[in-house]
Amino acid sequence: MSHFPKDFLWGGATAANQVEGAWNEDGRGPALTDVTTGGTVNTPRLITYLDKDGNPGTLSRGQSLPEGAHYAVLDGYYYPNHLGVDEYHRYKEDFALFAEMGFKTYRMSISWSRLFPRGDENEPNKAGVEHYRKVFEELRKNNIEPLVTIWHFDTPMYLEEHYGGWNNRQLIDFYTKFATTCFTEYKGLVHYWLTFNEINNTVSFVQVPEGADADKIYQERYQQLHHQFVASAKAVQIGHAVDPSNMIGCMICGVATYPATCDPADVLENRHSWERKLLYCSDVQCRGYYPTYAQRLWNEHNVQLDITDEDLIDLANGTVDMYTFSYYMSNLVTTHKVTDTVGGNFSLGARNEYLQYSDWGWAFDPTGLQYYLETLYDRYELPMMVVENGLGAYDTVEEDGSIHDPFRIDYYREHIKAMDRAIANGVELIGYTTWGCIDVVSAGTGEIRKRYGFIYVDVDDEGNGTLNRSRKDSFYWYKKVIASNGEDLA
Ligand code: BG6
Repeated sequence: MSHFPKDFLWGGATAANQVEGAWNEDGRGPALTDVTTGGTVNTPRLITYLDKDGNPGTLSRGQSLPEGAHYAVLDGYYYPNHLGVDEYHRYKEDFALFAEMGFKTYRMSISWSRLFPRGDENEPNKAGVEHYRKVFEELRKNNIEPLVTIWHFDTPMYLEEHYGGWNNRQLIDFYTKFATTCFTEYKGLVHYWLTFNEINNTVSFVQVPEGADADKIYQERYQQLHHQFVASAKAVQIGHAVDPSNMIGCMICGVATYPATCDPADVLENRHSWERKLLYCSDVQCRGYYPTYAQRLWNEHNVQLDITDEDLIDLANGTVDMYTFSYYMSNLVTTHKVTDTVGGNFSLGARNEYLQYSDWGWAFDPTGLQYYLETLYDRYELPMMVVENGLGAYDTVEEDGSIHDPFRIDYYREHIKAMDRAIANGVELIGYTTWGCIDVVSAGTGEIRKRYGFIYVDVDDEGNGTLNRSRKDSFYWYKKVIASNGEDLA
């Protein structure tokens, strides 16, 4: 007997910039993803710009623009997010396929710059507002409950260039206006909201380039996060005021880690790594105040934060209703020299000899999901959702058009079993949305061929293809899983 509650929210997840395309249609303004090129597992994506004299240049992600330069789409580069998988035009077809699988929920995000093309306008772009209204109505027609991420890595480019992005306190007000528009316009259509996708990435994946001032980088990162915490807390308060039935969650990138050895120094380092990379953000968002260890983390880099008394009141009044997270893999933490490393975005570190790795270097670790769920439920005692989980892998289309993806089915089967065990052990898990239920543009590498979907999209890494949708074997398998409420995993 499976332990999934009878109203469990089975579904899938995507993000606007990775599926919609239509990057400059109906008044949408650009975001940084629109000047980000494609990459591969070994070649990083680049951000393109024109310098003050009009010469083209590129940046790595996380680097700042040179003085006087501005972001630009350049000839000779391919920008995969411009097309996505064209969901902007094909959402009806996609939702019908989700309904055929029996989805109870679909996690998607609203592109900020579709509603506020620059980000600092007083009134939203009507075409953008109406687009998402139609989208939510279509989901409801298909009996699919929307689960909406307000910010999924897509701050409008204008705010990045002209205000310095999240370094600037004014972003709190711009975001709050955007969130208020979402809550009021879609009142009654949407009840489940997430304020910031993988908010902890800002401090979890900091790479300090050779010769750079690490303290300066951390100072900025922690301050950006503080602004996002306050923005999130304000959004929670507004969301509740607009509709008290709204359930609003945090969203954490849940890369569980273990000490690589039983050396006490590794065990302690792992605990500190959890604090730095996983708990720092959710402690603030779930409890409403900074944890005791925050001062230690700031001291590591001489960080002095600008925090007002009003901010502290907002944090206390804007705690989230649920804890949601992505889970793909685990990593190891050690104080010892690492000789056998794994590469790939998000997965830098020592290799775990007990685990298998994907072609992109991500560890297959379903037990880690159970460990994570039980640990975090015990910490916050809030309802939980796994809002991203999946396997990016190469797919082959057979001559008859079929796509056999037993590796993906195996991945999901074991993770669903892990969730079932966690529920049996008392975790209040209310939903599960697999990542990239339809193939999407990879956020990390910009590839399409790193495919996650139950639904295959005929498009390649240069944008060639019919964009036609077809069902993989995993499509039929997940349909059975949902129909049996997690009982039939064969
Ligand atoms: C999460 C993001 O980090 O992981 C998604 O929320 C992303 O946007 C997903 O797509 C998988 O990562 P990638 O690099 O394979 O796309």
